Amino acid sequence: METRTLPSTLPADSSINEQGHLVLGGCDAVDLAREFGTPAYVMVESELRERADRFLKALAATGMKGTIKYASKACPVVEVGKIFSSMGLGCDVTSGGELRIALLGGFAPEDILFHGNAKSEADLNDIFEHKVGLVAIDNADEVATIAARAREAGVIQKVLLRVTPGVTGDTIAAISTGQEDSKFGVNLPDAPAVIKAIQSEDSLELRGLHLHVGSQLGDTGSIARAAAAIAPLGDFPVVNLGGGLGVGYLDGSPDGDIEEFVAGAAAAAAEHFGPDVELMLEPGRALVATAGVTLYTVETVKSNVSTYVAVDGGISDNLRPLAYGSAYMALSADRVNDQPDTPCRVVGKHCESGDQIATEASLPAPKRGDLVAVPVTGAYGHAMANNYNGALRPPVVMVEGGKARVAVRRETWDDLLARETAGN
Ligand SMILES: Cc1ncc(COP(=O)(O)O)c(C=O)c1O
Repeated sequence: METRTLPSTLPADSSINEQGHLVLGGCDAVDLAREFGTPAYVMVESELRERADRFLKALAATGMKGTIKYASKACPVVEVGKIFSSMGLGCDVTSGGELRIALLGGFAPEDILFHGNAKSEADLNDIFEHKVGLVAIDNADEVATIAARAREAGVIQKVLLRVTPGVTGDTIAAISTGQEDSKFGVNLPDAPAVIKAIQSEDSLELRGLHLHVGSQLGDTGSIARAAAAIAPLGDFPVVNLGGGLGVGYLDGSPDGDIEEFVAGAAAAAAEHFGPDVELMLEPGRALVATAGVTLYTVETVKSNVSTYVAVDGGISDNLRPLAYGSAYMALSADRVNDQPDTPCRVVGKHCESGDQIATEASLPAPKRGDLVAVPVTGAYGHAMANNYNGALRPPVVMVEGGKARVAVRRETWDDLLARETAGN
């Protein structure tokens, strides 16, 4: 039988073996499903390294000082952190939970940036207890609170100020954050007063400004406009232009260009803040999305106008289609060489009509028991997983060189029931 060409959405280290099975990181997907069950998030380690390396090299090529801080919200997994921390990336966290995962992942506290538009007392305890290197101040109220905490701790806390640049990210509304009416950051007209307030606190050191215009961006156009908008606020040693580079979710759809993105951000930083400014970028999705492939088992196939192929997961392991109307593709993982001639909707098992993973899929005569792969699920899949309908959250399995290891194990019924007090 002819070997098919694999879709562009799969990790580079993907192939088809003699049995016509999908092979990820040298591991047969059928064996992975047998060993770890489905649904399962498979993460190809070489893809993570390659993406991180591209960001680092692209930054080095600009000749500017700078750091890449992994936005760990995209895939908060210790083993993923270990890969990135060992390569010299820093980390962006938004909660005590992400902070703990980052620390276990080997990030030095001084390389961690703590975000959040609603920092709790517990968050502040964590920031000072763990000596987090940099805190992004989100609003005027935080200035005196964080300054007092720093004084109490006897430290001068380095901070950035998150500014709402009044620029809408070139993306969908739910993940655009830079527009004027936003829950994130300080509006441009208010920023000078907040900057002054921070500078008047002797326990705070204002290192610079931060902005993040949104996610799943195709280019740096909106970032450059946002950089221009905040530049008049003053000269600082650091500028953080956020994350947001998009990826291609469908076969043939363009993947955000890492080199162009970094070069574009660097050019905007140099133009508006000077060539000596230290550039911080905090990509999440672009580092981890393409490394992830979710494996599902088909439970039901039915024709109700559309052909519905229902699998053993859904919005409990991938909320993005329901939350954002995101489109995914699906392919057979156990009969990759068979002609995918049945147009179908790959849907989940949950009690919502919106629980649809790939609405315009084509699979080879799908039937119960088939193994299906959904690529580009490394970002905001595991991160947003939930227990809807009592689902057990899937494992994260790392694969490389034909070896597989569990980074996060599958939830158990005991995990699910552990928080119930009745009868415990
Ligand atoms: C402040 C901040 N930085 C970085 C990111 C990462 O975005 P992305 O995964 O699109 O790169 C986000 C995403 O929500 C964010 O809010």
